[in-house]
Amino acid sequence: MALEVIVLAAGQGTRMRSKRPKVLHEIGGRPMLSHVLETARALAPTRLHAVVGAGAEEIRARYASTPDVSWVEQEEQLGSGHAVLQAMPGISDEATVLVLYADVPLVGAATLEACVAASGERGGVALVTADTPTPDGLGRIVRDADGGVAAIVEDRDATDGQRAITEVNTGILAAPATLLGRLLGEVGNDNAQGEYYLTDIVGGAVAAGIPVTGLATDDPGEMLGVNDRVQLAEAERRYQRRNAEAAMRAGVTLRDPARFDLRGTLRAGEDCVIDVGVVLEGRVELGADVRVGAHCVVRDSVLADGVTVEPHTVIDGARIDRGAAVGPFARLRPGTELGEDTRIGNFVETKKARLGAGTKASHLAYLGDAFVGERCNVGAGTITCNYDGVDKHETRIGDEVFVGTNATLVAPLDVEDGAYIGAGSTITTRVAAEHLAVGRARQRNIKGWKPPAKRKR
Ligand code: UD1
Ligand code: CA
Repeated sequence: MALEVIVLAAGQGTRMRSKRPKVLHEIGGRPMLSHVLETARALAPTRLHAVVGAGAEEIRARYASTPDVSWVEQEEQLGSGHAVLQAMPGISDEATVLVLYADVPLVGAATLEACVAASGERGGVALVTADTPTPDGLGRIVRDADGGVAAIVEDRDATDGQRAITEVNTGILAAPATLLGRLLGEVGNDNAQGEYYLTDIVGGAVAAGIPVTGLATDDPGEMLGVNDRVQLAEAERRYQRRNAEAAMRAGVTLRDPARFDLRGTLRAGEDCVIDVGVVLEGRVELGADVRVGAHCVVRDSVLADGVTVEPHTVIDGARIDRGAAVGPFARLRPGTELGEDTRIGNFVETKKARLGAGTKASHLAYLGDAFVGERCNVGAGTITCNYDGVDKHETRIGDEVFVGTNATLVAPLDVEDGAYIGAGSTITTRVAAEHLAVGRARQRNIKGWKPPAKRKR
C-alpha cells in the first residue's frame, strides 16, 4: 500500500510573535519541521509533501538541499483543511494519506504507524487523540453514546459543555486519498475563525457512515502542539528529557538530567559522567570514562577514553586522545588535536593546533596554526603570532621543547627538538635542536637611582 505524507507548515504562527516562520523555530537545535520530516521518513512514504505559505521562501531556502520533499504553496492561509486540499493534486488516488502538523514536533513513528494501520484496516479516517488536563485551545473529541468519535469541535467553536472534554485532537490523521479529497470538498468555513478546518472531515465522515477511529496516545509529549514560546520551551524540555534518558540508559551518568542539552547526536562509552549545564552540539563522541565538568559546551568533537574536561570549557571541532585533561576555562577551536595525556589548562586557546603526547600548556596561552611535538612544556603567556594581517603562518615545535613564560613566537617559525626558550623572549627565527634561545633586552640594575621626589605645594 502506497503511503503519502502531507506536513502542514503554512500557518502564520502569529502567537510566536516572531519574524521567523514558526516551523523554523528550533527544538534540540533543529527546526520543528526537521523533526516532523525525519519522523515521517521513518515510515518510508512514497512521497513526502510539505505545505508552506507564511515565510515559504525562507523555509524553502533552509531546505534547498533536501531533495525528498515536494513543496506545495498555500497562497492564502484559509485553514488546515484548505492546506491539505492544496496538496491533493500531487497525490495518487491509490495512496493512503497521513497528515502531520509541523508544529506538533515530538510525535513518534510508532504512533504514526498505528494511525496509518487503523485507517487501512477499516478503510476510513483514523486520528490520534490524547487526554490532557490542559485542553485549552485544542480541538475536542466528541464521542457518541457507543464511544465512537462523532466530531472534532475547535476550542473557539465549542460550547461550555464541550470545553469540559479532556480528550483532544493531536492533529495527526490518516485516510485513503480519494475519501480524504471527497470529505475535504464538503468542508465549509462557517465557524469562529472563518477557516476551512481539516478537523471538520470527521463530522462529515460520521454523517456519511464512514468509519472513524480515534487512537489515544499515552505519551503526553507526543501531542504537544507549539503555538507560542512557552509551548516551545515545554517541547524542548520534553525532548531533552528523552535525550537524557537515552544517554543514561546507554551508561552515562548525568548529574542532573533536567540540566542536560543535546543539540545533535551523542555516542558515549561506559561510565562517562556529565555534570550540570553541559551543552552538546552536532556530533559528539565520547570514549569510556570521560568526565565533562559543569557548564561546558562540546561541539562536533571526539574525546577518547579517560579524557577529563573541567568546568566552563568550550570544545569545538577537536579530537582529544586518551587521558588528556582540558580546562577549566579552556577554549579548543576547530582543528585542535590533542595527543595522549596532554594537558590544556585555564585560559588556553587553541586553533588548528596539534599537540603531541604528554605536552602541557597549563595556563594563559594562544596556540594557533601550531604543531607541537611530544613532552613539551608551553609556559604561561606564550603566544603564537600566526597572523601578519594578511596571511596565517605555522609554528612548528619539535619534541621535548621548553617554551618559557611569556614567549612570543612569530610564525613562520621552527623550534627544533630539545630547544629551550627563555622567558619573555620574542622569537622570530629558527631555533636549532638543543639550543637555548633568548630574545629579550638585557636587565640593567642601576645603582644610586633616586625615586621621583614628592612635589611641594
Ligand atoms: C489544530 C487543530 C486542533 C488540534 C491542534 C493540535 C485544526 C482546525 N485544528 O489547532 O484540532 O487540537 O491543531 O495542535 O486543524 N496550517 C496551514 N495552513 C493554514 C492553517 C494552518 O498549513 O491555513 C497548518 C499550521 O502551520 C499548523 C497546522 O496547520 O501546522 C495547525 O494550524 P494551527 O493554526 O496551529 O491550528 P491549532 O489552532 O493549533
Ligand atoms: Ca497549532
